[in-house]
Amino acid sequence: MSTELSAAGQALYPTLLSPLQAGTHRLRNRVIMGSMHTRLELLDRAIERQAAFYAERAKAGVALIVTGGYAPNAEGRIDEDAPVLDSAEHAHTLRPIPQAVHAHGGKILLQVLHAGRYAKVPQPVGASEIPSRINPRAPRRLSEAEIGATIEDIARCSALALEAGFDGVEIMGSEGYLLNQFAVTRTNDRDDAWGGSVENRQRLAVETVRRVRQRLGPEGLIMYRLSAIDLVEGGAPPDEIVQLARAIEAAGADIINTGIGWHEARIPTIAYVVPRAAFRFAAARVQRAVQIPVVASNRINTPELAEAIVGSGDAAMVSMARPFLADPEFVRKAAEGRADQINTCIACNQACLDYIFSDRATSCLVNPKAGRELDFQEMPRPASARTVAVVGAGAAGMACAIAAAERGHRVTLFEAGRRHRRPAQLGPRGAGQGRVPRADALVPPPARGAGRDGEAVHPARRGAAAGLRARGGGHRRAPARAGDSGHRSRQGHQLPGAAVGSAQRWVRRWPSSAPAGSATTSPSTCCTRAPRRPSSSRPNGVSTRPTSRPAG
Ligand SMILES: Cc1cc2nc3c(=O)[nH]c(=O)nc-3n(C[C@H](O)[C@H](O)[C@H](O)COP(=O)(O)O)c2cc1C
Ligand code: SF4
Repeated sequence: MSTELSAAGQALYPTLLSPLQAGTHRLRNRVIMGSMHTRLELLDRAIERQAAFYAERAKAGVALIVTGGYAPNAEGRIDEDAPVLDSAEHAHTLRPIPQAVHAHGGKILLQVLHAGRYAKVPQPVGASEIPSRINPRAPRRLSEAEIGATIEDIARCSALALEAGFDGVEIMGSEGYLLNQFAVTRTNDRDDAWGGSVENRQRLAVETVRRVRQRLGPEGLIMYRLSAIDLVEGGAPPDEIVQLARAIEAAGADIINTGIGWHEARIPTIAYVVPRAAFRFAAARVQRAVQIPVVASNRINTPELAEAIVGSGDAAMVSMARPFLADPEFVRKAAEGRADQINTCIACNQACLDYIFSDRATSCLVNPKAGRELDFQEMPRPASARTVAVVGAGAAGMACAIAAAERGHRVTLFEAGRRHRRPAQLGPRGAGQGRVPRADALVPPPARGAGRDGEAVHPARRGAAAGLRARGGGHRRAPARAGDSGHRSRQGHQLPGAAVGSAQRWVRRWPSSAPAGSATTSPSTCCTRAPRRPSSSRPNGVSTRPTSRPAG
């Protein structure tokens, strides 16, 4: 890590920030950036973008990064746009990605994901012909010869990852994908060597790990993503999960990561209604059964919580996926004793999963730079600092104020309400209420840090506006009406309507001029209307709606 571990960081997170040996690899701490399919590979300068995206997280101290899933063959793609790694030529093009991570002392695994009957391809395949309720296309049952070929494809894909310079692979065995489908009676009705008894159902997962280990040798790091709880009827009972974990360890895995719930599960697993670290118990059950490190996952979004998990021994490592969209510097800030400045993921899913499901590259509601590292890097620095008044302390206003302050301007943020808007007002209805660890999550730390450095970035009372002298109609009327359900900036980032509405009400009372030497901006001037997609129409069935608390 380019920053030093401070005494405060050491004292607060002694286990989380301590190194760990996994196989032949020494990891600098216990933090994994979990796998996320970003769709960055479909944009221009795709490799450069991915390298920059991962490098920024590695630079700030993440020990181990996992890429989004790569299919080992065409029929295993999640959809027809999803990446496949099946040739040396393709592997060669990926090289800059691990190189960028290694340059900052991080390690990176390529995730190998065969989607099985979830694949939205012309003819998905699976353990059986039992269809999934989230894919209209029924699967074709794999023959025994095809199962052998699939294992070989996964092994070849893993070897190609190593050739490309990755430290190893994560084999995706959870969330209801192919290996998970074979393991349970819900989707496996076979009566051959790959179905029936628990050993037969688990054979595909175990043989796959064994073959990948043979192909990679001891140098390749192998992490297996095990479904620690399926959350579907006909899923694996706890004793079968523990049995599979032991078999995976014996087959040669170095780390067991945990996945929570199938995509078709009706119980929310990552939405804001899920209590933080709700599934820690499932990882702990696996950790108690094996000697290799086990990783806890899902809704872990503060270093305090992560430390509590690894410190207690419930898991040796923690995986955080979305928190690294919200703040690439999560680890560095914790290590420097600045956890209060971490920009917290509020589990809204609005700019990460919702973007993926609507065929856009992923980003983050509270960090629009996520996935756009190259674009923001290329912004020219201002020749001189200016005095900037930002009107409206909603999501857009706060982001605007922070960006301006980071670029060296003197910023004052005005809000008509008594204070800046709270996560509960900014996320989906009810998001964050009583669950977001810091109510200030959306007045992120850079603004506060900037304030300490002498910048005037603060949520101001309405009365403060009287202190500004007006000049030249610096405001345009907001193009959106208060109460609209959502707005999109020119870069396509979705913003909550409530935030824009608030700023707009304030702007209407604003004098039509501003003080000499100041630039004035309203977040509403960079917004255009964009209807929100109802969550019920999400195509892959990942549930983000509020419902009862998860089992366990
Ligand atoms: C945009 C997005 C894409 C994802 N893609 C993958 C994937 O390709 N493979 C995978 O195993 N998990 C994937 N996940 C799930 C995450 O790895 C993780 O399990 C989930 O987000 C919950 O963890 P978190 O609360 O730390 O985000 C994805 C999650 C998001 C938000
Ligand atoms: S969009 Fe919302 S859920 Fe996704 S990473 Fe950002 S804050 Fe978290």
